Amino acid sequence: MYMFEVEGRRPLRGTVRASGAKNAVLPIMAAAVMAGSPCVLHNSPDLSDVRTMSKILEGLGATVERTSDGSLVIDPTTIDSHVVDEMLMRQVRSSIFLMGPLLARMGKVQVSYPGGCDIGQRPIDLHIKGLKALGASVEEKHGHIIAERLRWEGIDIHLDIPSVGATENIMMGACLADGVTIIRNAAKEPEIVDLQTFLNAMGAKVRGAGTDVIRIEGVEKLHGAEHTIMPDRIEVGTLMIGAVITGGEVTVENAVAEHVQALTSKLREIGAEVHFNGHGITVRGKGRPRATDVKTLPYPGFPTDMQPQIMALLSIADGTSVITETIFDSRFKQAEELGRMGAKIRREGRTAIIKGVPALSGAMVEATDLRSGASLVLAGLSAEGKTVVRGIHNIDRGYERFEEKLESLGASVKRVSDNRR
Ligand code: EPZ
Repeated sequence: MYMFEVEGRRPLRGTVRASGAKNAVLPIMAAAVMAGSPCVLHNSPDLSDVRTMSKILEGLGATVERTSDGSLVIDPTTIDSHVVDEMLMRQVRSSIFLMGPLLARMGKVQVSYPGGCDIGQRPIDLHIKGLKALGASVEEKHGHIIAERLRWEGIDIHLDIPSVGATENIMMGACLADGVTIIRNAAKEPEIVDLQTFLNAMGAKVRGAGTDVIRIEGVEKLHGAEHTIMPDRIEVGTLMIGAVITGGEVTVENAVAEHVQALTSKLREIGAEVHFNGHGITVRGKGRPRATDVKTLPYPGFPTDMQPQIMALLSIADGTSVITETIFDSRFKQAEELGRMGAKIRREGRTAIIKGVPALSGAMVEATDLRSGASLVLAGLSAEGKTVVRGIHNIDRGYERFEEKLESLGASVKRVSDNRR
């Protein structure tokens, strides 16, 4: 196991590029299962979640190669199994996205129930409801879910919650259904638009991603396609906050301004300068951040995946801030760890009240999931003295070469072995 040693009080300065989006490449890898020929995914991030998903696809019989320029080449033509490896599935819950594509291609799928994780309950009832509506029978026994295609026809479905994963699962399965599927109250995240682009490149007929009504006209078959994965807007946001929490100035070259509007607005409220130019986003921290309130909401609201990171920033703000987490029921784990660094955070259910302190102090802290890990690294960059962040395998799930990027901006973040583990 490894940990990061982070030296504090070093402003981040310079230009950096974000990697391809974890939450785009994972569903797109699942969609590739439906292709009748190989797919090439450019700008795929080299993350542990992507490596695990690659092993899951290989377990189904596909071949997955990473080329030297960071593209994934997936050949699904040799897939001969519908059973998703249980141990691997526990590592990457988003392998639940394989249900729709495998039902569409194989007529059958067996997955293990994806465990919850450290951000709370992660039910999949909306996924199951959508796949049943398309025509699958679903049986749950001994921790497995076995689904079988009885018929596979287009539907008109309204999602109780604009669930990203459920929207994606139904969208993919519907591509090969007979007739038209309409998904209402669909999630509008940019990663869903990226998935639509890939599906249509495969010969699907999907319209409306990015809005709350998505229309899929079923087709006979899908062929392989090339696609470039969109930049990771959560990594972009994490680096933007890095600039502000250290009082530095960072340009994220390949950022898409529209994808980070909610965060941009908050950072300006906090007193930072944010400029979009032809080649990315430049963020400058100006003095001590001002307190503000944050409420996480489905896109285009403030993203839950940026909540731990902005909590770190508000921990040193001038004043008291309130964060309301409306998406997950327990995504404040980082509050305790920030408290070890001197932050004053009181949690009341889905609300956190943060009384800003002038400065944090370095300490040994534990990453419990990937975004809380990122938040602790950001806090360490700002704190006085050295911070040791343990459990960084969580960070490696969603941040490619995180310490290298931060060091290229002037930080001191060393990956060292955690020999107490
Ligand atoms: C995706 O998870 C992301 N993961 C998450 O990113 C992100 O936090 C989340 O969307 C919300 O934006 C990937 O895309 C791989 P949801 P997902 O279904 O699809 C409830 C990260 O840090 N719900 O939109 O699992 C659920 O409990 C990760 O990169 C049901 O009740 O999220 C939650 O409260 C963390 N029933 C809400 O909906 C269901 O069937 C939103 O979940 C499905 C979800």
